[in-house]
Amino acid sequence: MEILRLGNALLRQKAELIGDIDPEVQETAEKLIDLMHRGKGIGLAGPQVGLMKRIFAIHIEKDIPRIFINPSIIETSQELVKYEEGCLSVPGIWGEVSRPKNVRIQAWNEKGRPFNLEAGGLLARAILHEYDHLDGILFLDRLPDLKRIRLLAKFEKLQAKQGPQKADGKA
Ligand code: NI
Repeated sequence: MEILRLGNALLRQKAELIGDIDPEVQETAEKLIDLMHRGKGIGLAGPQVGLMKRIFAIHIEKDIPRIFINPSIIETSQELVKYEEGCLSVPGIWGEVSRPKNVRIQAWNEKGRPFNLEAGGLLARAILHEYDHLDGILFLDRLPDLKRIRLLAKFEKLQAKQGPQKADGKA
């Protein structure tokens, strides 16, 4: 598994629900966590590795790594907050995104257990960012047009310097 970058069509597709949470899904969960750690990210979603399933991993400081399978956003706060976000699929680019301050989410963990979680702060931020990935949405989409265009140009320049990502997903 390799992390796909902006420009790969899979990042723009809607991911499918997971059926049974079997050993294969558990293995996928472990791989997601491992790749997230190696990339020094705080979250990684299935579509980012070309796996079009509704699963993501999150690990923020002072918390345990968490797996969310078939998540549903139950509620989000009216209050919005701005925070600088980055994404392992858009390396080298950061932008200030406005999102709900708090979120309530329902999902299943890698052991097949359902759970409810009320989150604020960075955890809420990461949940909303990763959830977006399952619907083919990137944080750049949530920026004002001019800001997005400027950052896209910066990303293209960075990519041109590094060389394009190969079709097999390897950088
Ligand atoms: Ni991301």
